[in-house]
Amino acid sequence: MSRAIAHPNIALVKYWGKAETASNIPAVPSLSVTLDTFISETEVTAAKTDSVVLDGRVATDSKITDFLATVRAKHELPPLRIDSRNNFPTAAGLASSASGFAALVLALNAEFDLGWDDVAIADWARIGSGSAPRSLFGPMAQINGPDWIAKPVDATAMPELAVVVAITSKTRKTTSSSAGMAASKSTSPYFEPWVATAEADMNAARQAIAAGNFDALATVAEHSCMKMHALMLSTRPSLRYWNPTTLACLDAASEMQQDGLRVFCTVDAGPQLKAICTEDVAGAVAARLESIDGVLDVHVLGLGPGARVVA
Ligand code: PMV
Repeated sequence: MSRAIAHPNIALVKYWGKAETASNIPAVPSLSVTLDTFISETEVTAAKTDSVVLDGRVATDSKITDFLATVRAKHELPPLRIDSRNNFPTAAGLASSASGFAALVLALNAEFDLGWDDVAIADWARIGSGSAPRSLFGPMAQINGPDWIAKPVDATAMPELAVVVAITSKTRKTTSSSAGMAASKSTSPYFEPWVATAEADMNAARQAIAAGNFDALATVAEHSCMKMHALMLSTRPSLRYWNPTTLACLDAASEMQQDGLRVFCTVDAGPQLKAICTEDVAGAVAARLESIDGVLDVHVLGLGPGARVVA
């Protein structure tokens, strides 16, 4: 048996759209923070037949089944049992597929001596889920061309950061990110400008992080997020991931910024609001978000380490 753990990550420069679907090459570079506290813990064992157990229940997950078929086209793998647990709500829009695949790839490599080096691990994680290789590293990671291999980002110049997650709905999303990305690419008039402007956002984010400039990072991260949602909204049929509470949280964050709090927001393919702030104001940000009607739960997290094999 081999077991690995990985933490979810939240993109500050967003990934939406694939250049190539077979090996899951993104159309745009992306950059993320890795969370602490929340973990996916994945155990892999040879068994009589294939089975997947998610949070204690036997599951059929087509992403995992397709992934194993792709691995088996290159490597001999016996039938196996995958047992994966999240210590955070799976339906909460916190990218459990990223941490799940990062942990799965490490556990498979350890258990079956696949001989994957760091580059192969990042490649296989990306084939599992586009954002998964970013969970291999902490506290920040990036993925960009031409190799599309995830790498750590040196965040030592930045002040201590916290991520406050406001849960605004516990309903599972109806459109998967892969289907949504394909639809945006084929129907939105904004897809081309989205791709054309992504590199500039990456450069601005990298410079801000290297200089320890929170405000510059906030500006580019909010812009990247809003551009991604403009792309989603302009997809046919429209991809609308926000609910009224998401918008109320965004308004509250703007007010906090006007009050001088170091905070900015990001939203992914779901209605949860993620507020990134300096650690000293995390309590104030959490209290403000908790006071909003429709906010169901608030989690205050720090930045965490990369994925690792634990047994
Ligand atoms: O890894 P996927 O296919 O679930 O895509 C993730 C897409 C976003 O979360 C919306 C953005 C990102 O960069 O994580």
